[in-house]
Amino acid sequence: MATFRYDVLIIGSGAAGLTVALGLPDGVQAALLSKGELTHASTYYAQGGVAAVLDSDDSLESHVRDTHLAGGGLCHDDAVRYTVENGPQAIRWLIDQGVDFTRLEGSEANPLPYHLTREGGHSHRRIIHAADATGVAISSTLIDRVKERDNVHLFEHRVAVDLILQEHGNERRCCGAYVHNIKTGETDVILARSVVLATGGASKVYLYTSNPDVATGDGIAMAWRAGCRVANMEFMQFHPTCLYHPKAKSFLITEAIRGEGGRLLLPNGERFMPRFDERAELAPRDVVARAIDHEMKRLGADCLYLDISHKPADFIIEHFPTVYAKCLQLGLDITRDPIPVVPAAHYTCGGVIIDRAGRTDVPGLYALGETGFTGLHGANRMASNSLLECFVYGRAVAEHIGEHLQELPEPREAAPWDDSKVTDSDEDVVISHNWDELRRFMWDYVGIVRTTKRLERAQHRVEMLKKEITEYYSNYHISNDLLELRNLVVIADLIIRSALQRKESRGLHFMREFPDADPVGKDSVLVPGQP
Ligand code: FAD
Ligand code: SIN
Repeated sequence: MATFRYDVLIIGSGAAGLTVALGLPDGVQAALLSKGELTHASTYYAQGGVAAVLDSDDSLESHVRDTHLAGGGLCHDDAVRYTVENGPQAIRWLIDQGVDFTRLEGSEANPLPYHLTREGGHSHRRIIHAADATGVAISSTLIDRVKERDNVHLFEHRVAVDLILQEHGNERRCCGAYVHNIKTGETDVILARSVVLATGGASKVYLYTSNPDVATGDGIAMAWRAGCRVANMEFMQFHPTCLYHPKAKSFLITEAIRGEGGRLLLPNGERFMPRFDERAELAPRDVVARAIDHEMKRLGADCLYLDISHKPADFIIEHFPTVYAKCLQLGLDITRDPIPVVPAAHYTCGGVIIDRAGRTDVPGLYALGETGFTGLHGANRMASNSLLECFVYGRAVAEHIGEHLQELPEPREAAPWDDSKVTDSDEDVVISHNWDELRRFMWDYVGIVRTTKRLERAQHRVEMLKKEITEYYSNYHISNDLLELRNLVVIADLIIRSALQRKESRGLHFMREFPDADPVGKDSVLVPGQP
């Protein structure tokens, strides 16, 4: 078991972590961790693109207004304006890093020669993208740039277990983390003067999700255990259209298909979205996901359909090559056939409360991206605002660390990881069983439509699981599955507690017995140690 020392420890290799790493001054030594390979992050799977005002017919004010509207009256205006105003600059930075966005041949209105698509909630074309594989383009370009830096040391297959806190003067500071090596089974100490949580979201807490396996809310759970407040965890976003096919796990059908004219259909071919919202297929996600859920339950259907086949085949193949190829592999030709779709958990709107520089409540600890809560997304994130937030706040975090690192104390030695009192488990079934149970009752009881009774049922089960998992964690050697389960049960608890507090329906949180929104919306803030 080793101890490593760096100036900065960045936990996460998605858009948020990579942006911080690239923004640090050359002299700052940083370690960057990922649970799997560097690309194994939600960022890599992003399809639609990044929202920003890039067209002279569009305006910052319109992007701000759309974000507020989608966010159900709960977005923080200062965070919205800060993100939107810094959007065009963030896109310029990505282009400078070498991201090859889909280009457009000559447009007077668009000062950047790039194609802009549309997604739900946006009143204007403002999504810059690389066909329907924007995440691959961003992730691989930023990883290439990071690999060129001598000051960033990359650690793959490492899972941060918990943060290390030390008293320095009259402060309790974050000074590093215990880090488990998934390949060797060893748990090391990594000490750093600043620690950045860029661990992504928590959608794996649900049985069906668009997210990769790493999305288990580790950063939110670690920050919570370390004493940070979290906010708005009840607002878990369900993407309306994930592919419904027995052989497709977590495959998203991008909202840009609806942006380019795709229509949602019932099994009998009838279009239904105009009955639910005048914006029809381009209503914000909470509205569309709820409408699909409603129609599926009403008809007892296993899935509904998304159809773009009325567009020319060349157009479909050029704009959506990834979706086209994936569906064709499964025997579905989207230039001719409608695509079977269902909603699935997609995005964590809540998270660790941070300020404009990404600082949490614990000195030395930053958070951002899907782990952080800036107030940008309110009760429902608007499509493609999430990657934008990663870049805008990533640059701010790096700048703040660069400016203040010299003032921060050097961490003292930390006790090595002590596993002398634990043994190997011969009961791994406890972990797999509890994983399945947790994700299933979250799906059934804490999903798109909620009731107090269902939430209380889920809470009761969470209490039992918490006890069982704590006991297991204290007695047996750790593994990635156990660590993730331990974090997921914290996430489930935070979601349910926030949901029970909110006695209204707003954005992504729909309560059957309180169908209306209160006149004034408030964030749900949870404080460690308080009921
Ligand atoms: P991630 O990209 O998820 O990265 C998290 C990183 O943290 C990973 O490297 C992971 O290994 C690491 N990690 C986690 N826990 C630990 C731990 N304990 N120890 C060490 N490392 C850890 N948003 C948009 O704006 N536009 C889109 O078009 C879009 N499309 C999407 C499509 C899909 C299929 C999905 C799933 C999401 C999409 N989103 C989109 C949302 C967006 O991709 C994510 O919100 C964003 O990429 C999150 O970036 P991040 O850096 O915060 O986290
Ligand atoms: C999509 O392409 O539909 C995902 C966009 C997003 O989550 O912002």
